[in-house]
Amino acid sequence: MAGFDRRALCVPDFDVASDLHRAAFTPLGERAWTRQDMAELCASPGVSGVLLLSGGKEIGVALSRVVADEAELLTIAVDAGHRRRGAGRALLEAVIDRALAAGAVSLFLEVGADNPAACSLYEQKDFRVVGRRAGYYQRGTGPNADALVMRLALRPGG
Ligand SMILES: CC(C)(COP(=O)(O)OP(=O)(O)OC[C@H]1O[C@@H](n2cnc3c(N)ncnc32)[C@H](O)[C@@H]1OP(=O)(O)O)[C@@H](O)C(=O)NCCC(=O)NCCS
Repeated sequence: MAGFDRRALCVPDFDVASDLHRAAFTPLGERAWTRQDMAELCASPGVSGVLLLSGGKEIGVALSRVVADEAELLTIAVDAGHRRRGAGRALLEAVIDRALAAGAVSLFLEVGADNPAACSLYEQKDFRVVGRRAGYYQRGTGPNADALVMRLALRPGG
């Protein structure tokens, strides 16, 4: 985590978190999460978020959910001006740490098959494709994109 600070996502952070989400996902053709979306998600059982900071400025956010022994990455976004410097990896590692601490044995996520940056990040962290939902993501006027379901085993045999 060299060069980054991280902290738990709290109510006063919902605006900046939704700004980060909108800036990251609107170009992908995905719906931006509002402040209200953030608030409702963070009030759901097992959900928590992490903010990543560089030089005191919020540059990334990730939300995840842990239910029983399964964790799920709900979203991850890094400010475009701060990408390719390890921020995405640092956020993912924070999510993995939290899932492990909560006793999860697996971490699941869904990613667009047309999102090479995210797919590469997850593959680098040893996630493996375990499913595919054909045409799951609507991409504006373009063709829909498949969703890949990926899983990381968090414990030996998990
Ligand atoms: C995906 C995302 C979070 C990655 O954030 P990041 O801070 O740039 O990622 P990192 O710098 O930690 O990169 C870690 C690894 O991911 C892969 N990666 C990241 N960006 C990549 C790109 N544009 N092309 C190819 N591989 C990429 C690389 O393997 C990289 O390791 P390397 O730099 O040593 O080669 C960021 O691009 C983003 O916010 N995208 C928009 C939102 C999104 O797609 N979220 C995921 C939805 S499932």
